[in-house]
Amino acid sequence: MDGNGRWAAARGRPRGFGHKAGVEAVRKTVRAAGELGIRHLTLYAFSSENWSRPPSEVRDLLGLMRLFITRDLAELCANGVCIRILGNREGLSPDILGLIETAETKSRHNTALNLNIAFNYGGRDEICRAFAVLAARYAAEGRDPNDISEVEISEALDTAGQPDPDLVIRTSGEIRLSNFMLWQAAYSEFVFLPCMWPDFDRSWLQKALDEYSSRSRRYGGVPAAKDVAL
Ligand code: IPE
Ligand code: MG
Repeated sequence: MDGNGRWAAARGRPRGFGHKAGVEAVRKTVRAAGELGIRHLTLYAFSSENWSRPPSEVRDLLGLMRLFITRDLAELCANGVCIRILGNREGLSPDILGLIETAETKSRHNTALNLNIAFNYGGRDEICRAFAVLAARYAAEGRDPNDISEVEISEALDTAGQPDPDLVIRTSGEIRLSNFMLWQAAYSEFVFLPCMWPDFDRSWLQKALDEYSSRSRRYGGVPAAKDVAL
């Protein structure tokens, strides 16, 4: 989700106005994803690097996260949304931690849509934390580090138990990954859209899915026979 600040600036409004509008786009997107049959959706809400923004903007973003969880949790649960928060929880304030735990606990049996919210998330930080867990486990169990497998690493990440993303969408015309799912996105398709995040809606999501459908995924191999024009 990128472009809230530019969307606001284009309207002569403060950045916080863009972030607020961005939450509306989140609501629309979660609804649309469910309707379009998407089973797993991750929203990159706040990165480990976003703490470097001015304190008032950080406050705005944290406030919106709080508001989203408190206001929308009941409706999300009613719609069968299972919420998981990805990211580093160390150092988060007790009220945010409490909200995260409530959201995950209350929604954990839902199965219609798995919604990950990446909050205080960075792909490198996630991999570092996973390595620490694995290193401690291997040391404690006296195991040979050469036995570490890709599956084991995947299962030590915040997305344990979830499939890798098929499609990564970034709005606002920026063409980079910005520390998002570095491990999981190894074979993802990428779609970069010109629209600013507050303008993102079902029709932009559909455009991204159409683009995804036109791609041929080979995972380092050759096209499947059914994809080859005879
Ligand atoms: C995305 O918009 C907001 C977050 C998810 C933190 P930005 O705040 O990055 O907006 P621009 O890039 O300045 O336009
Ligand atoms: Mg940005």
